[in-house]
Amino acid sequence: MRQAGRSLPEYHRARGDTTLLEAVQQPDLVTELTRQPVRRYGVDAAVLFSDIVVPLHATGFGVDIVAGVGPVMHRPVRRRADLARLRPPDGDDLAPVTAAIQQLVDELDVPLIGFAGAPFTLASYLLEGGPSRHHLRTKAMMLGDEALWLDLVERLADVAIAALQHQVAAGAAAVQLFDSWAGCLSPDHYRRYAAPASRRVLAAVAEMGVPAIHFGVGTGEVLEDMAVGADVVGIDWRVPLDAARARLGDGVAVQGNLDPAACLAPWEVVAAEARAVLAANAGRPGHVFNLGHGVLPETDPATLERLVDLVHREGRASGP
Ligand code: CP3
Repeated sequence: MRQAGRSLPEYHRARGDTTLLEAVQQPDLVTELTRQPVRRYGVDAAVLFSDIVVPLHATGFGVDIVAGVGPVMHRPVRRRADLARLRPPDGDDLAPVTAAIQQLVDELDVPLIGFAGAPFTLASYLLEGGPSRHHLRTKAMMLGDEALWLDLVERLADVAIAALQHQVAAGAAAVQLFDSWAGCLSPDHYRRYAAPASRRVLAAVAEMGVPAIHFGVGTGEVLEDMAVGADVVGIDWRVPLDAARARLGDGVAVQGNLDPAACLAPWEVVAAEARAVLAANAGRPGHVFNLGHGVLPETDPATLERLVDLVHREGRASGP
């Protein structure tokens, strides 16, 4: 339930006027913000308070996070020379992040999940300059200059690998690779232009010895591709969980897949929707109950408290 904090009054109090990119430089604040949803909801894992653009920001690639908009690049990538501005983060760049992780691992009773942006999703931000509906510049480069595109995504794979190595070395127990915008690609294009760089990241995570969760939205047509090299595949609400499990087999776990918008409905509806997700999994091991995407800021914290409680009571009944 990433961004669970946005729905919490204690989160807004602790954040105050601190921007996200300032906040992630302050280990005590990161520790507090990461712990808040665990404290309030009793979820079974913590998601590091950070963002997929933090490794870019930490290496001096100018980026802001604009509230209500998302990441905005000072100078988007336009041509080959711009790639020279990208480099993998080192230990000094990520010192505040690793300090926060070390503190969290000491204080948390649950595992800490680190994360990175997948090459395709980061490439979209770099090329578009910010959030995009149709990813037109991204597709224009991908289809129009394959060599430059592949150079870009391979560099972004190196950025993700370095970021995840530092997180795992500091104590993250699992990592999630977020390919939030890969769902805009056709299956053929996903396989050709996005999957190879992501697979290299997943293979590097396997070497690190921690489980990898591979997350996408609108990626129902490429679930099998996303499962390669992943321990857990994120399923959004567009794919019924039983269908996803039938397609993927027992070799990979699934995460999902309640529609975050369902959490805005009256509690009885939320409960019925959550029970439908549990029923679709039918007690099989290897299901991480979650929302299909992040928590919407309008969500009532009381709903999430009841949701976690319901899943804990009913989801474990026939589990392992
Ligand atoms: O609160 C948490 O759980 C921390 C974790 C977290 C953030 N970003 C903090 C954040 C995580 C896991 C992310 C990942 C992230 N960031 C993704 C991948 C996951 C997904 O949801 O698809 C993506 C695509 C981004 C890029 C990004 N950053 C977006 C789309 C936004 C939202 C813009 C908005 O305000 O609606 C951000 C900003 C952001 N990242 C916020 C937070 C808490 C909110 C803005 C802020 O607090 O300044």
